[in-house]
Amino acid sequence: MARVLVTGGAGFIGSNFVRLLLTTDPAVEVVNFDCLTYAGNLANLADVADNPRHAFVRGDITDREQVRAAMRGVTDVIHFAAESHVDRSIQDSGPFVRTNVTGTQILLDAAREAKVSKYVQVSTDEVYGSLGATGLFTEETPLQPNSPYSASKAGADLLVRAYHHTFGLPAVTTRCSNNYGPYQFPEKLIPLFVSNLLADESVPVYGDGMQIRDWIHVLDHCRGVEAAWREGMPGEVYNFGGRCEMPNIELTKLLLKLLGKPDSLIRYVKDRPGHDRRYAIDCSKAERDLGWTPRVPFDRGLAETIDWYRANAAWVAEIKSGAYREYYEKQYGKLA
Ligand code: NAD
Ligand code: TYD
Repeated sequence: MARVLVTGGAGFIGSNFVRLLLTTDPAVEVVNFDCLTYAGNLANLADVADNPRHAFVRGDITDREQVRAAMRGVTDVIHFAAESHVDRSIQDSGPFVRTNVTGTQILLDAAREAKVSKYVQVSTDEVYGSLGATGLFTEETPLQPNSPYSASKAGADLLVRAYHHTFGLPAVTTRCSNNYGPYQFPEKLIPLFVSNLLADESVPVYGDGMQIRDWIHVLDHCRGVEAAWREGMPGEVYNFGGRCEMPNIELTKLLLKLLGKPDSLIRYVKDRPGHDRRYAIDCSKAERDLGWTPRVPFDRGLAETIDWYRANAAWVAEIKSGAYREYYEKQYGKLA
């Protein structure tokens, strides 16, 4: 029986991952370690809360003793916990360095002490920086992070590399493009725009809206992380992407169309400082070496995601009633 410490399992991708693991593999126990920041939400796990193979531990990865205690009996670590939003890292980078860099270092030390069989670092394509009109990020692309968020993730990735090289920690790093799907906190583009449009509120498009992102369904990413855990070679990096590049304005207009809302709800706002122009991923290594491929077509995934936000209006309302409001007004001005 594998006993897997999943950090950040109450967040967007982590909760989808915990659900996937518990429902597909009866031989896995999950210790879900999460300190429940604004982005962590136990409601994301309501349907697996009573599963006897799931233990939730409220703890902070920057607290060495809490991490050590949670690591007892653990065979593997899959590390999702992070501060994850670029705009918040521009408002204040402190929590990003603390959690993403120091927290990862503390987790690596504990994983080393516990002699885990595998450590998976869940990272992002944003560590590679920004692309011009052509080309793709490969695992060999130099790290050139541009935002405090991506710089803190790149710092963590380099620590993981060093712990493998210096101490032989059996660590694998994954780097994925922009995720979308159920349970995503409504500060990221797709859930923010969908939830605003469902409430007939405007959607804030940064700059000219011609920045390009590659979109992948969260379950495709989760399957990739699982494959990297089971099949990944220690010391290796694997990129995941959805082969679905799209300028933000095109995606915005698609969302308006799918929700039957007028283009007049588009509000062009001041661009994000240092905004990366284009991300695109070459995921052929993961396809070749892990037997993984993205499976969810964007049109189906997006339609299902919109349906999920429609059906889970109470989940969104609960989030938007809290400290979210303060963040929103600081980022975008008064609510429309
Ligand atoms: P999220 O913000 O939705 O969730 C992060 C989770 O980590 C939350 O549950 C939060 O409570 C927890 N957490 C934060 N600080 C913690 C700490 N100090 N100790 C313990 N728990 C803490 O993030 P997400 O979108 O689910 O992203 C998960 C991981 O995947 C991150 O490492 C992120 O960098 C990476 N990633 C995200 C995307 C994306 O598109 N969202 C793409 C590629 C990689
Ligand atoms: P986001 O979901 O924050 O992901 P990331 O910055 O990690 O790629 O943003 C996706 C794209 O959408 C990015 O180019 C910024 C843009 N964007 C807007 O235009 N308006 C918004 O309100 C947000 C949140 C993002």
